[in-house]
Amino acid sequence: MSTLSQRLPADSEATERLESAAPAVPAPPVLSVRDVRIIDRAGGREIVHGVSFTLTPGKTVGIVGESGSGKTLTCRATLGILPAHFEVGGGSIEIEGRDIGCLTPAEWTALRGATISAVFQDPASYLNPSIPVGRQVAEVIHVKKGVGRREARRQAIELLRAVHLRDPELVFDQYAFELSGGMLQRVLIAAAIAAGPRILIADEATTALDVTVQAEILDLLADLRERTGLALVVVSHDLAVVAQLCDEVLVMRQGEVVEHGPTREVLHHPRHDYTRLLIAEHEQYGLDKFLASEEDA
Ligand SMILES: Nc1ncnc2c1ncn2[C@@H]1O[C@H](COP(=O)(O)OP(=O)(O)O)[C@@H](O)[C@H]1O
Ligand SMILES: [Mg+2]
Repeated sequence: MSTLSQRLPADSEATERLESAAPAVPAPPVLSVRDVRIIDRAGGREIVHGVSFTLTPGKTVGIVGESGSGKTLTCRATLGILPAHFEVGGGSIEIEGRDIGCLTPAEWTALRGATISAVFQDPASYLNPSIPVGRQVAEVIHVKKGVGRREARRQAIELLRAVHLRDPELVFDQYAFELSGGMLQRVLIAAAIAAGPRILIADEATTALDVTVQAEILDLLADLRERTGLALVVVSHDLAVVAQLCDEVLVMRQGEVVEHGPTREVLHHPRHDYTRLLIAEHEQYGLDKFLASEEDA
C-alpha cells in the first residue's frame, strides 16, 4: 500500500514551503495568539482570560481541559467565527503575520480554507445531507482553487484517497447518511485540506469516534503534518489524544491557561494540581502506556 505522502495530490506548494523553511533559521510562526481575551457581551463577562501560543510549520499545539473551559471559543476566535455576542476583548491573533482584527470579510473568505482551516466534532452536521459528499469536496476545490468542475472532481477523488477512504470513486457519489462517523470525518478533513491550508484546527475532531477509528484519524493528521508541513492545533478534553500528537500543550480551566509547555514536560512534571488531576483521570485510558513508551524512547 502506498503511503499518504505518495498519494497526496496538489500539495507541491506546501512541500516547497516546507523545504524552503527547512534551513537552520527557525521558520516564522504561521499563527501567533497573544494574550487573547474573549468577552461575552450578552452576559457582560470575560469568558477566556488570556491565551497565548505560537505555532510554526509542521508543529502541533494541543489545548486540553474540561468541557466549558474555553477551548472552542479560542479556536473560533482564531478562525474569526465567534458566536454572535462574543468578541475578542484583548490581545491579538496573527495569521502569517497579519493581525486578523484588521481583516475585511472578503479577506477572511480568502483566508479560510486556503490558509487556515478546521474540523470539528459531529462531521455530519457540516455536510449537506442531500448532496453527495464528494461533490461537496469538489465544490470546495472548485471555489477555493478556481479549477473547472471536471478537474475539481478528479482532485476531490484524489483527496478522498489521500485521507485513506477505500473506493474513493464510490464514496464520491455517496450521501452522508451512507457513511460511518469515521468516514465522514475523513471527508471533512479532505474538504478542510483541499485548498492546501498552512494551519488546521482539529477541535474534538475524534471525540465522537470509537477508539480504533480515533487512532486512525490521529495518524492521518500526523501524516498530513509530516508530508505538507501543516501546523496543527489539536483540541481535546482527552489528554491521551493531545499526548499522542502535540509538541506543546496548553491546559485550560475556566477560561484560564493553568499550564503551558512542551508536552513531555507537562505530562512528566505537571506543575498545576488540575493537570495532575487530568493525568490521573486519563491513566485508565492508556496515557500511562504512552508515558511509559516515552520513557523508553
Ligand atoms: N454560543 C454560545 N452561547 C453562549 N455561551 C457560550 C457559547 N459558546 C460557548 N459558550 C460558553 O463559553 C464557555 C466556554 O465554552 P467553550 O469554548 O465551548 O468550551 P470548551 O470548548 O472548552 O468546552 C462555556 O461556559 C460556554 O457555556
Ligand atoms: Mg469545545
